[in-house]
Formats: sequence, structure tokens, C-alpha cells
Amino acid sequence: MFWITIDREKPIPLIRQIYSELRTKILSGELTAGYKLPSTRKVASELHLSRNVVLEAYEQLLAEGYIESRRGSGYFIASGIYLEQHARMTEAGAGLPKVDQHFNEAESKLIDFRSGVPALEHFPRNLWGKTVQRVCQEAPLSVFGYNRPEGRTELRTILCRYLYRTRGVQCDPEQIIMTSGATQALTLIANVLLRPDSHVVIEDPITHDIQSIFTRTGARLLPVPTDGYGMDMEQLPSLSAHRPRFVFVTPSHQFPLGGTMPIQRRLQLIRYAREADCYIVEDDYDSEFRYETAPISSIQGLASERVIYIGSFSKILSPGLRQGYLVLPKALVASYQQAKWLSDLHAPSIDQLALGVFIEEGHLEKYVNRVKKLYKKRRQCLIDALQLAFGDSIRIWGEAAGLHIVAAFPTIHFTPDVLAALEQAGVRVYPVEEHAIVKGNHTDKIILGYGNTNEAQIGEGVERIRAVLTRMLASLDSP
Ligand SMILES: Cc1ncc(COP(=O)(O)O)c(C=O)c1O
Repeated sequence: MFWITIDREKPIPLIRQIYSELRTKILSGELTAGYKLPSTRKVASELHLSRNVVLEAYEQLLAEGYIESRRGSGYFIASGIYLEQHARMTEAGAGLPKVDQHFNEAESKLIDFRSGVPALEHFPRNLWGKTVQRVCQEAPLSVFGYNRPEGRTELRTILCRYLYRTRGVQCDPEQIIMTSGATQALTLIANVLLRPDSHVVIEDPITHDIQSIFTRTGARLLPVPTDGYGMDMEQLPSLSAHRPRFVFVTPSHQFPLGGTMPIQRRLQLIRYAREADCYIVEDDYDSEFRYETAPISSIQGLASERVIYIGSFSKILSPGLRQGYLVLPKALVASYQQAKWLSDLHAPSIDQLALGVFIEEGHLEKYVNRVKKLYKKRRQCLIDALQLAFGDSIRIWGEAAGLHIVAAFPTIHFTPDVLAALEQAGVRVYPVEEHAIVKGNHTDKIILGYGNTNEAQIGEGVERIRAVLTRMLASLDSP
């Protein structure tokens, strides 16, 4: 049956909830003219409701013309009820986070294993709010005017010390440019370094967004397979055919497969970049979260003249703050300042100062230590639940780090149909294959984010995955 969710805790009558869900599905074209609705008896029994509740919801839809009743055969979606705006909104938003959907999801019982979202309910609202307020009262007048493209010196000086202490990054404050998240840092790199005839050596798989940011310039990607230790250096492309502009890596915690690049590979990579006379772009998006071993120092600290280092506060604090940064080789600083200025002038000044105070007063590190314990528990809970549900048949990919794991299922291919069946069962997972450049090697794997999913949701989510996959495997086995 199609999926209707009801929430008995909501102060909205159940009749209204069923009516609204169906109405939305009809208007958006998800349920099309002529589709036969399941009988009121069936819906009532699946949702454990009185049949009268479902009947009243259907009657309301009938009265408003959304559905028709055919004597003896049931209820059908009426024709001509498809609000283009609903569909257009969905099409225009393809590839973007579905804002309305997220809002509905928060209300419904969908369990979303989206990766890279930190525990939003643990964001230190009060402390952050007080810091912003204090900065606003005490900051010099200049913060309310136009500022320089690289961002406030106060923050860059503090960040410089923080990065040296936590990531072994070697730089002066002048080498830092504050950006709107790591994403803008990537866009600026693409704008400054790439042309239609450029080549980029890049890990495969890697987030689809990053691929798009680079390919939009016309540049060509040269994918290098990744294994449990990040990019496989033995498969770097020969330099006789193309000289890449840069090699893109996520060495602390490869996205999505989760490996950490060992020092031998890091050194091989530096040698390759020197030979190619190209840069290494090191995306260090979630490196603070390591649960069993200490964070591994950056590649930037080994070859600061070759590495463009990208950092972000999206995972360690909040993606909504849109605070990220670039640490550049000195020779590149001026061109990136210009690119940032022409993009959006500079990052918001009050937020930058607040972030500086937040780091300097020790709140950030205290917060990171606190949530690290939470994520470590959530990660273990997820692995335990998967092992309980699937035994040794699955393989878990990824170091004890970050905010997601990858699970590989030997007999399942996560095709759109399988993903849709999971979604219908109220659980959303993310296929690794979506992020693959060379298609076909990762269809058995899904990404499961646990940052913003509590232990109860993890348990229930894995149970829903188990139920769907077991049913599918059984139907494949039956003659
Ligand atoms: C590998 C990687 N780099 C960069 C980003 C972008 O993060 P930000 O929110 O800082 O733009 C993400 C987002 O999840 C990511 O997974």
C-alpha cells in the first residue's frame, strides 16, 4: 500500500491528517487520475484506526472533488487535479535539499539517515546567542560596514592558532580566507584554477556536489578509485597524457567510503603533485571527529606551498552558520581575495567575530568533546543494530570517525526501486553509487549518517531496512 503516516501525538485530528496527506499526494501528482485508493477497511487495519476515521477522511476528499466513488469498486483519484505549481516546485528543486519535505519529515515519522548533519538539538543555542549579542554590543563600528574579502583579522588570527594546535596546519593569518562553508571554498577554487581544458584528479566516489562544482567550469575529472585507505596512489593517472590543475582529496575521512589516508600515501601524493607541478586540494570537512585514535595531521602541514586546505564549521558546529575557510599557499592569496570579493564581497562580520570569541574562550573545543561522545555512541549503536539485523553478511566501511558509515550488502543492489521501497517503509538511505564517477562499482553500498539520528531512531530505522530487504530477498528466492 502507499504510505500514509499519522502521528497520534500531534494536536491535529487523525481525520484531518489522513485527508491532508492524500490531498498533498493528489495535488503533487504522486497519485494520478484513476488510481484506486485502498479500501477504508484496509487503511484502518494498517494504521490501527477505527474505519470511521478513514471513511470520514475519504468523504471529505470526495466532497471536495479530489476522489470519486464508483459503486461496488471503491474510491479513485478524480481527473484534472494536478496543481502544476506543486510539481514545478519539485522539479525546480531537483538536486537541492527539499525544504518542504524536510519540514514534513520533521513532523512525520520518516527516519532519515542523511549524512553530514550534526546533532541539531545539541547546538549550544544559548551560548552562541549570548556570544553574538555580546559581540554586537562591543564590536568596533567597522564590523557594520563593508569589510575586506578575506574576513576579519581577529578571527583569522585565532583560527590560525586553532588549526596549528588541532590539525598541524602551518600558516599565517594572511593565508586564510573566510568563506560561506567549504562549498564556497570549492567554488572559488574552481573559478580561479579551472578552465574548460583543465583536468582534475579526484577520488572516486566523491560527493556529487563537488563533482558538479568542478565540471561546471568545463573541466574534466580524472577519477582515481578509493579503497579503505582513501585514494589509491597506484592508480594515479600518468602525467604523460594530462597535467592536472590539482588533485582533490578528503584524506582525514574520505567521503563517502570513510578511509583515512596513511602517511605513505600522503607522501606519494605530494611527490606526484610536485612532479605534475599542480596543487593538492585537501578537504578537511569533518576531521575533528575521530573516536578511537587522535586526529591525523593535515597534508597541508607537510607541504604548505602545494596544498590548498579547506575547512568548515558545518560539522563541528552547524551547517546553518555557513562558516568555512581556505588556507592558501602565499602565491595564491591575492587571486582568491579578488574571487571572493567578486563573489559576495566577504563573510558576515558579526558571525566571524562571534566564532572567534567562541573558539578563543574554549567553547568550541568543549562542545566538540561533548558531542564526540554522543556520536561515538550513536555510531556504535548503528553498527550493533546492523550486525544484529544482518549478521556477518554486511561489511561496514569507514574509520571510527565523522558522522556517517557505509554499509555494503553482498546480495542487494540499491536501485531506485529498492530505495523507493525503503522510503515507503519510512526510512531514507543514500546510495554510494550516486556519488560514483565511474558507475557500477558501488551499487551494493549505502551511506548511513548518524549525526542527527538518535539511538531510538537508529534502532527503528535499521529494523525498517531489515524488514524491507528481507522481504525483497525472500521474493527473489521464491520460485
Ligand atoms: C566532503 C565534503 N566537503 C564539503 C562539504 C560541504 O560542507 P559545507 O557545509 O561546509 O559547505 C561536505 C558536506 O557535507 C562534504 O561532505
